[in-house]
Amino acid sequence: MARPVVARTLSALHRARADLTKRNATIALVPTMGALHDGHISLVRLARRRAKKVVVSIFVNPQQFAPHEDFGSYPRTVKEDIARLAVEGVDLVWNPDVKTMYPEGFATAIVPEGPATAGLEDRFRPHFFGGVAIVVAKLLLQVRPDVAIFGEKDYQQLKVVTRMARDLDLGTKIVGAPLIRERDGLAMSSRNVYLSADERRAAPTLFRSMKETAKRIRAGEDLATALDAGRALIARAGFDLDYLEVRHAETLAPIASLKDGPARMLVAGRIGSTRLIDNIRV
Ligand code: PAF
Repeated sequence: MARPVVARTLSALHRARADLTKRNATIALVPTMGALHDGHISLVRLARRRAKKVVVSIFVNPQQFAPHEDFGSYPRTVKEDIARLAVEGVDLVWNPDVKTMYPEGFATAIVPEGPATAGLEDRFRPHFFGGVAIVVAKLLLQVRPDVAIFGEKDYQQLKVVTRMARDLDLGTKIVGAPLIRERDGLAMSSRNVYLSADERRAAPTLFRSMKETAKRIRAGEDLATALDAGRALIARAGFDLDYLEVRHAETLAPIASLKDGPARMLVAGRIGSTRLIDNIRV
């Protein structure tokens, strides 16, 4: 099992990238913040199928955390992450530090609109998509991959990044990968480690309530009524709900019924001090 090359400076990254592409090999990038779980590994496996060489970035991006959020305590397990990536045959790990990504005097912002202002995550984490946009733009410009893989778990993020890569002619095809769940339905997330035993038991309610709500909508129930019932189910399980919504699957614009186009149900809520998000096709 060959250990991937680990680059921590831009010059090391550029050398390693030149090495990888010597024979015109294509590159797939999987951007991550580390604390890798099986969901991330499924992205890596998809990357393998999409390109000859696989690069995984590990960078906990301070710009996408608000001051009151968990940047300081976000799980950091780089050694274990690299060991897992070695098993998957990853070619290169890009693991810069904060000063390399945002050197002294860094003063550039990207202000994404469209799906970034849909009134979902952006309503509760107004700093988030600006932070994601700048770091993803930088990662794509640094690694210059042919494709980059983003999980559907962060569905709004996937749409924001897809729009940005197109709008800025970044030259990378953005590919969405299906969300991976635990056996009881909880969406895999690096933040699941924050859940107490009781919270962990209650957490799959998010997915179960979405499935139940989607079933009612597909059976013809009015969207607003079904969503109200779904919100009540989630609140009853102990969640402080931020939103449960059905939106157009591509634009994330509000829809009134399934006749308005392909639909996606998206949810976010807090249980204890942990905020969870999830989504399903309706
Ligand atoms: O989804 C994530 O893990 C992050 O938001 C990303 C895309 C790696 C940017 O920091």
